[in-house]
Amino acid sequence: MQCCLKEQLSPFSMKEAPRLNLAHLPTPLQLLPSISEQAGRNIWVKRDDLTGFSISGNKVRKLEYSLAKAKQEGADVVITCGGIQSNHCRATAILGAKLGFKVHLLLRGDEPEQPDGNLFLDQLAGAEISYFAKRYYQAHLDFIAEETCEKYRREGRKPYFIPTGASDAVGVWGYANAAAELKEDFARLEIQPEHILCATGSGGTQAGLTAGVVMHRMPAQVTGYAVCDDEAWFVNKVNTDIHDWIEEYELDLDLGSLDIRVRDAYIGEGYAIAGKAVFDTITQVFRSEALLLDPVYSGKAFYGMLTDISEGKIEGEGDIVFVHTGGAFGLFAQRQQWQKSMG
Ligand SMILES: Cc1ncc(COP(=O)(O)O)c(C=O)c1O
Repeated sequence: MQCCLKEQLSPFSMKEAPRLNLAHLPTPLQLLPSISEQAGRNIWVKRDDLTGFSISGNKVRKLEYSLAKAKQEGADVVITCGGIQSNHCRATAILGAKLGFKVHLLLRGDEPEQPDGNLFLDQLAGAEISYFAKRYYQAHLDFIAEETCEKYRREGRKPYFIPTGASDAVGVWGYANAAAELKEDFARLEIQPEHILCATGSGGTQAGLTAGVVMHRMPAQVTGYAVCDDEAWFVNKVNTDIHDWIEEYELDLDLGSLDIRVRDAYIGEGYAIAGKAVFDTITQVFRSEALLLDPVYSGKAFYGMLTDISEGKIEGEGDIVFVHTGGAFGLFAQRQQWQKSMG
């Protein structure tokens, strides 16, 4: 892993976006032969679960930019937030430690007796962790974040706050560039997928992909499978992130009327709660393709995709690309739920 700060000037931008090389790129694009045969349609998977091992998943592409900005601004403390099993917080904790930042995580939920999955890795990485009751966190996140930053400023330190999922103007770069990587994959494999699908949890991955396909003139439709909030919320969030990004980096891009598509039919009982059908999909995909999905993000989205294909809800007959955004550590924290679902 090279960690030197690169000043990167995009051909579309008047302003530099500093970047660190933290992810193993390019990630493979692989056909899922068995699932494709069952679905009657070619399904490819972009293996962003392989951006690393302990720092795996979609967040690494975004953190290449967020942590570079923190470094550029001279920060010595990185503060971020999320659920108890946040993949984003885990990636930030590990990368932050490696880069020499103190990392402080603001987590939604009570401290469990036994840390598992991502939370265990947060602790292993030495992050300071503050736990907040769900309701309090949801109502007061901005205040909590500001208070925490202020505490460090009073101590003479320089905090840098990364919002939920690194989904902001800075983080959009991660998946705008991933779209360019996909374009190269498509050319090499001589395929022309009509759809690019991903799980959507805080919107940044979808925002980057949506902007990226326009930026790189790719004839593919991006659709996000919501795992928490509804379609209206995510359309607004993705739109806001893209417009903030254009403004922040003075991008010379005409996005026309952006087609932001969100499917919110598969959230089920709520964030991080997966039903039997999702666990069955995780089991089936693991056993037939050796591909590990998680119950919070990739498994839910994958289940949604397969259901939509079977119901004819994904237009056309062309190839589909599923962006595997990672999340495997979250599966370990739900081993009991999986066992229960198996009956
Ligand atoms: C494994 C995984 N997949 C997908 C997502 C959703 O990505 P985004 O937050 O960019 O919408 C997240 C985080 O929220 C995640 O941790």
